[in-house]
Amino acid sequence: MKSSHLTLGEFIIENQKHYKSTTGEFTRLISSIKLAAKVVNYKVNKAGLVNILGEAGFTNIQGEHQQKLDIYANKVFMETLINREIVCGIASEEEDEFITIKGKHETNENKYVVLMDPLDGSSNIDVNVSVGTIFSIYRRVTPIGTPVDEMDFLQRGNQQVAAGYVVYGTSTMLVLTSGNGVNGFTLNPAIGSFYLSHPNMKFPKNGKIYSINEGNYVHFPQGVKDYLKYCQEEKEDRPYTSRYIGSLVSDFHRNMIKGGIYIYPTSTKNPKGKLRLLYECNPMAFLAEQANGSASDGYQRILNIKPTELHQRVPFFCGSKKMVLKAEEFMAKYPEDAKYNEEELAEKK
Ligand code: AHG
Ligand code: MN
Ligand code: MN
Repeated sequence: MKSSHLTLGEFIIENQKHYKSTTGEFTRLISSIKLAAKVVNYKVNKAGLVNILGEAGFTNIQGEHQQKLDIYANKVFMETLINREIVCGIASEEEDEFITIKGKHETNENKYVVLMDPLDGSSNIDVNVSVGTIFSIYRRVTPIGTPVDEMDFLQRGNQQVAAGYVVYGTSTMLVLTSGNGVNGFTLNPAIGSFYLSHPNMKFPKNGKIYSINEGNYVHFPQGVKDYLKYCQEEKEDRPYTSRYIGSLVSDFHRNMIKGGIYIYPTSTKNPKGKLRLLYECNPMAFLAEQANGSASDGYQRILNIKPTELHQRVPFFCGSKKMVLKAEEFMAKYPEDAKYNEEELAEKK
């Protein structure tokens, strides 16, 4: 069958065949994520329409329409996963604590936990710019059948079983890795199915795009300032092009296709960076590495960081391998700045 005729469901079944001990749990989990993504996609598209037609006032009178879309997306993903009893626990950027999912008989035999950013780049929704959903899947470390514990969620990124994102863009795509490369599926809205449209996605080794919120320049560490100067120099293939959407998912997606680096560094405003290790950086880092790219906090591999808390923030340098390496070279000149999370680590000891 031509790859573009293969649906996400068929693709998962096809790939699961290679694992003898599978129970179908993973397949059902991806199915649920796929379903929630379609529901959110419908709402995201409608939200744009509502704004354009100026019906916001009317919808505000309706209770549910007053909800912000990121809260709505959170609810959709939560309910879809909880109702299907497909995982034993969920952690979300929108929830203070992780959620324990009890089965019908108070026990839950499922082995996976999901961590997610239900709506990434939500500040872009009002202006009709692409937003996304990011998810990350781990096998629990505590015994099956017992309630989940924080340690099930605070695993290193290198333990991820799968990760992916949905980009609600010019077309809606679901991009997924389960540790065997990265594949992109495009939603055919007429049929409601995701089709394999971007098999085996890879970051070009080098790129010419840098994505950073340069408005924060004065607050950046010196290593980042020096790297930006390097990007803007007139030499060889430079100056590079600057592209920043402000939706990590969209910036990442473009950079993976065209070659580039995304940076959200520490700053005097955000001393630990802004992005969340568990909901944003780890899943994107797993995808990046699976696509021949790289992800770092400026000094070390993101996937090696031992998380200390659910909503932990880290600086993020992610994209084409050569570009991330180059940025790390500049960061290494100021080793003091590598201690951005030292205080936190000391507290946990
Ligand atoms: P979220 O909408 O989930 O809070 O994430 C927004 C993130 C990320 O998607 C984006 O790249 C970054 O925040 C933008 O931050 P700035 O507005 O500070 O540039
Ligand atoms: Mn986000
Ligand atoms: Mn979010």
